[in-house]
Formats: sequence, C-alpha cells, structure tokens
Amino acid sequence: MLSSPVDQIKDRLDIVEVVRGYIKLQKAGVNYRAVCPFHSEKKPSFFVSPTRQSWHCFGACGEGGDIFKFVMKIEGVDFKEALRILAQKAGVELRKEDPKLKTEREHLHEISELACSFFETQMEQSSAGKEAKDYLLKRGIKEESIKKWRIGYSPNIWQGLSDFLVSRGYKREEIARAGLALKSAKTGKYYDRFRGRIIFPVFDLSSQVIGFGGRVFKEDDPAKYVNSPATLLYNKSRVLYGLNKAGMDIRKKNRCVLVEGYMDAIMVGQAGFENVVATSGTALTPYQLRILKRYTDNILTAFDMDIAGDSATKRGIDLAQAEGFNIKIITMPEGKDPADVALEGNWAGLVEKAKSIHDFYFDNVFSKHDKKSLEGKKDISKILLPIIKRVPNKIEQNVWIKSLASGLEVREEDVIEELVKIKPENDIAVEQAGEKLAKKTRKELLEERLALLILQEPKNINFVKQEDLDFFSNKEVVNYLCNNKGIVSNVPENLADRVNYLCLKAEVEPGLSFKEIDVQQEFKECLRQLKTLFIRDKLDCLSKEIKKAEQENDLRKAQQLVEQFNQYSRSWTDLEISEI
Ligand code: CTP
Ligand code: MN
Repeated sequence: MLSSPVDQIKDRLDIVEVVRGYIKLQKAGVNYRAVCPFHSEKKPSFFVSPTRQSWHCFGACGEGGDIFKFVMKIEGVDFKEALRILAQKAGVELRKEDPKLKTEREHLHEISELACSFFETQMEQSSAGKEAKDYLLKRGIKEESIKKWRIGYSPNIWQGLSDFLVSRGYKREEIARAGLALKSAKTGKYYDRFRGRIIFPVFDLSSQVIGFGGRVFKEDDPAKYVNSPATLLYNKSRVLYGLNKAGMDIRKKNRCVLVEGYMDAIMVGQAGFENVVATSGTALTPYQLRILKRYTDNILTAFDMDIAGDSATKRGIDLAQAEGFNIKIITMPEGKDPADVALEGNWAGLVEKAKSIHDFYFDNVFSKHDKKSLEGKKDISKILLPIIKRVPNKIEQNVWIKSLASGLEVREEDVIEELVKIKPENDIAVEQAGEKLAKKTRKELLEERLALLILQEPKNINFVKQEDLDFFSNKEVVNYLCNNKGIVSNVPENLADRVNYLCLKAEVEPGLSFKEIDVQQEFKECLRQLKTLFIRDKLDCLSKEIKKAEQENDLRKAQQLVEQFNQYSRSWTDLEISEI
C-alpha cells in the first residue's frame, strides 16, 4: 500500500533540517536548541528532537508538535498550505485536487505567481517593458539581479493583467482580492492596479509571491510607488523584503542590514553583501522583529534617522532595543541611499563606520544643540533621557548616564534624578518583552513530573496501583507508560504529542538526570502529593454538596455524601501519616 503524502514527507524530511531553514539551531546533547521563534525570550528554551522528529518550547509559549505544526506556525498557514510547502521540499507529489475544493489562499497564490510571470514576460518582450529594463540597467541593476528578484513590467493599459488572468480561468473578483485589480466606483468595471510600472514581486519565506510593489520609471507620476493592499497573503508591515534570499547569509554572518527600499536591498545584495532586507519604507514592527530574531540578534540600520521627536523610525529602533537586539546605525552620506553607495563600491567601508546607538544618538543630538547654553542642555536631555530610560540593560544604561552627565557638564546624580521622573509611557516594547509565563496548575506540574520520572526510571511504574490512575487528569498517558513498562514505542496517535513532549522534556530538563539515586523516592513523594491534592479537591467539593443537600432537606443524599466524605477523609489521614 502506498503511504500517505504526510508519511512520505515525514520519511523524506528531517525535522532538524526543516527547522534549521528558519531558525538558528545549536546542538544540545542528542537534541537541538534555539531561542523560541514563537515568543519573545532571551534564553533558548525551544528544543528539537531528531529521534522523535518533534519539537517543543519549554518556555512561556509551551508550543510543540511535529514538522507540520512547525511549518504551520512559523509560516502562519493552515495545514493544507504546510502540506504543500513541505511536499515541495520533499519532492512528494500531491494528488491534483478538484479545483473547486482549493482554498482561497491557494487561489491567491496561483494568481500571484501567474501575475509575476506575466510581468516578467512583459519586461522581456514588450517594447515599453524593454524601456523599463533599460532604466534598471542604467541605474546599475544587473541582468542577473532582474532574474533573481523576478523584476517585471506591468503594461500601461487598463486590463492587461486582468484579461490575461481571466483567460486562465480566474474571476475578476478573485483578481481584485489578490490585490491586482480594483473595481471602479463609477462603472463597476475592474481595472489593473499596476499600470506602466516596474514591478518588484514580494516573496514570503518560502519564496512564493505574495504581493507587489510597482515603481514609476519615467518620473512623470507623482506616486513613486503603488503597492499591493493588504490581502489574505500580504501585509506590508509583516514582510521583510528579501528575507527569503538573505536568510542564510544573515545566519552565516550573524547580522542583518536593514534598508528601506527594494532598490537598496537589491543593489546592496548584488554588490556582494547578501545579508540585507528592506522594510519597504515602513517602520519596523514587532512582527518583523520577531521574524528577524530567528536569524540573528544583531541588526544594522541604514535608514534616514530623525531622532528628535517621536518618529516612526525611532520607535522601531526602541522596539528592537527592547526586544534585545544589538543595533548599529549606518549613517548615509548626505543625499545618498544604500543603493547609490553600493553602486559606488563604498558599501563595506560605510558599514565599518556604523555607530552604536549610544554614539549615534549622542553625536546626533550634541551636534544639533548647544550644550553650553541652558536651553541647549534642556533640549539635549529632553531627547536623550527617555531614550536612556528605555535601555533595558542596567550596566549599559549606566554608561549612557555617565556620558550624558559629562557631555552636559552636570553631576551624574542630577541626571539620575531626572531619569527617575520620567515615566515609561505606553511602552509597547517593554510590555511585550515581559510576556507572562503560561502558568500550569500545581496538579499539572505534578502529573508531568511523575511521567518524567517514569521515563527516567521505568521501575517507578511499580509504585502506581491501578486505582491510582484515578488521580491523574491525564490518565491515558500514565496508563500507556505503565502498560509499556515505561519504554516508549508504538505511541498511539492520540497520545503522540504529549508523549513526544514528555520524552523531550525528560532529555532536556536540567537536573533531572543527575538525581538517579532518589528518583524513586521523589516519585513516591510526587504521587503522594498528587493524591493529596486530588483528595483535598474532592473533600472541598463534597462538603459543598453536603451543605447544598442539607439546605434542600435531602437528608438521604446528605447521608451518602457524608459517607463518601468520611472515606476520603480517612485516606487523607493515611496520606498525612505516610508523610512522616
Ligand atoms: N515606498 C512606498 N511608496 C512610496 C515611496 C516609497 O511604498 N511612495 C516604499 C517602497 O517600498 C520603497 C521604500 O519605501 O522601496 C523606500 O523608498 P525609496 O527610497 O524612495 O525607494 P527606492 O525603492 O529606494 O527607490 P529609488 O532608490 O529608486 O528611489
Ligand atoms: Mn532609494
């Protein structure tokens, strides 16, 4: 019998390799660990198990599962889409489905891909397209970059792309939902969004086309760029342009350069510096930062930085700082952007000169204000104090305080006094960094501990009596472990996630493996505590019911409940005694 695509994929792909495609993994014994890509944390508590082909985060988010669950979460897609992505990676062919059963998402993917190749062809074959290409070549974009980034041209007519897509069987409404057409309010007719523009397709992490940016090239249109609107696939504030190609290099160099424009990312990349991504002119968002965190902790920005006032760029930097990134600022020569510098061959030199944020802020503010005058001193501290307040690391913060005091020629104590007065107002970044741990109840923790101790020392199952199973909310798992004498094999499907989680945890939990001698003792103690908790809850519950029965004058019922109560209470006493 032919195995299912899911099994074939699991056979062919190694979870470690797939996960490594998205985040930086470190070897940790038989497993691999990383900073969790799904929540904000500093210490790595995300583990991948090659033996069980599973992963789990033991930190705040507590997520875990198999290769499919991982791709679903990291790409933000549903199961079908993850299946498609992984099938492609594994070279597994999926059966052609009934086109009507395809999801909206799949339709939009197809439309975007078709549109992209349509634009590419237009660039090569139409005369206006060739003009557009000439413009790019003249600006120094290489032929190979045009191919690599699949840059294209959208013909300057009202229904060029739309008619093409309709001829391929797509509906005009769908084309509009893909962000490629608009409906005229007057005539009710659909027309192409991108007309007469150079087209930069935007890719997701698996290099599928999800949106477009269209740039004028004859400089006659006041709107330099027209972009895809937010669609099911595309959200400008969530994408980092070029990350699909730059990811590997960012990991290798352990740093990422952030630029603003498509042109910048492409030209810096083709100059041999591939660890570059573009924010597409928007401020850095928490979402983008979280994606970047999977690749590196070190970012260099090559933005226009206006740090006085509350610019969006500065907020992005603050956010990055609060998320624990090391940030350096590349200062652009007056009137130039990264694309220009890269073309001139001076990119490496400029990056060398990148400043720490500390130096950048200080140089910038002190050069713009007169530190000698009282007004100047006030202006300088007004800009710098809130920034210093946000430095999460106290030692680093202290360095900033010292610099400000000496720069302004005032006492450190006075700077500190002023700093205390500042309230960190609606500081999203800080709030997000302090994400709360998903708390488990004590009962859950005990049950988990017991399961771990069985895995650690299978003989522990001898202490579990059949009637003890009642104390577990997770009976099936303990039952499974007991029946298998604590050896994990042939895990039933419905228990797989939980058992994989426990096995991985048993392997990575610090300390657990050093306590061989008292593992049995600890097991007995945990089991006793679990019973105590269970019985205490039971007694609580019964006493409430008794009260109720008595109020309702149901004396027979009350009598029965009291008997139960006494029984539990006797075993409670037994447990208390066994403690001594
Ligand atoms: N942008 C936009 N809409 C605009 C201007 C800019 O969406 N009207 C976005 C684009 O994603 C653009 C980025 O902001 O890539 C940076 O803008 P800019 O530096 O002006 O564009 P470049 O792509 O660098 O183009 P060029 O260097 O050719 O001017
Ligand atoms: Mn530019």
